[in-house]
Amino acid sequence: MKVGLLHPGEMGAAVGAVLVERGDEVLWRPAGRSAATARRAEEAGLQATEHFDDVQVILSICPPHAALDVARTLAGSRALVIDANAVSPATARAIGAVLGDNWVDGGIVGPPPRSSGTTRLYLSGTNAGAAAELFTGTPMEAIVVSGSPVAASALKMAYAAWTKGTAALLLAIRATAKASGIEEALLTEWARSQPELEVRAQNAAISAATKGWRWAGEMDEIAATFAETGLPVGFHEAAAAIFRRSPQLAEPSLDGVIDGLLAQQDDV
Ligand SMILES: NC(=O)c1ccc[n+]([C@@H]2O[C@H](COP(=O)([O-])OP(=O)(O)OC[C@H]3O[C@@H](n4cnc5c(N)ncnc54)[C@H](OP(=O)(O)O)[C@@H]3O)[C@@H](O)[C@H]2O)c1
Repeated sequence: MKVGLLHPGEMGAAVGAVLVERGDEVLWRPAGRSAATARRAEEAGLQATEHFDDVQVILSICPPHAALDVARTLAGSRALVIDANAVSPATARAIGAVLGDNWVDGGIVGPPPRSSGTTRLYLSGTNAGAAAELFTGTPMEAIVVSGSPVAASALKMAYAAWTKGTAALLLAIRATAKASGIEEALLTEWARSQPELEVRAQNAAISAATKGWRWAGEMDEIAATFAETGLPVGFHEAAAAIFRRSPQLAEPSLDGVIDGLLAQQDDV
């Protein structure tokens, strides 16, 4: 199988690597991409090219805010195109309108796949079964979701609404507690009654300080998903604001993120 991959980020490179390991030829497009992406592509065994003319399958795995633009670069492609990005059903439908009959909606849950059992690729739409077969024999578990052509995106949105939405909420709570002068008292109470929250807040800070720029766009997509169902959008608009405010830190720490959030209090 010859596969095109846009782009070899943390997730894309790992997905490409499991296909290469299975014996597939995986191509990527270097134009406009950074040295870090080129390094990941090389380590994953991917081949650089600007042309995907003879590939059978193309995987789009990129930041959610770029997913529609990336799809536009693939319009008219004869390959099966799996859009595996964290986008709202509305954005997924717009991507489908660009890509036409060869489009497959997808959403990834779990870390970059390196061993079996960690990561699921949810797929929906008429081509979902054919797309799922691409991952047979790899650590990436492909699961077809029925219900609507954009069910995979809807599922990813509902899943991340909790995991990333509550991460942002915890950071906002910690910043509020510090600004109110009751941080130690809150931590003491958490230790007694909510002992898991301190570790969750530490992990949330590491994510916010390293991928907050990308998670903000995902929160916008979740807010749009809630809007489409007539539910309040405020939870995830606020989460997007928290991730946009989060400082990007070379040495991520909870204190660094809290201080960064509080430093921008005027920007409410
Ligand atoms: N990482 C995870 O654990 C994880 C888990 C589940 C789902 N996912 C999904 O996987 C997708 C990608 O995540 P990731 O972790 O791989 O992100 P990432 O590590 O930040 O990589 C993003 C890739 O897309 C490229 N890119 C950045 N801005 C772009 C733009 N404006 N247009 C086109 N390409 C652009 C980057 O290239 P340059 O940096 O070279 O410009 C990089 O190669 C997301 O939709 C995410 O929801 C990721």
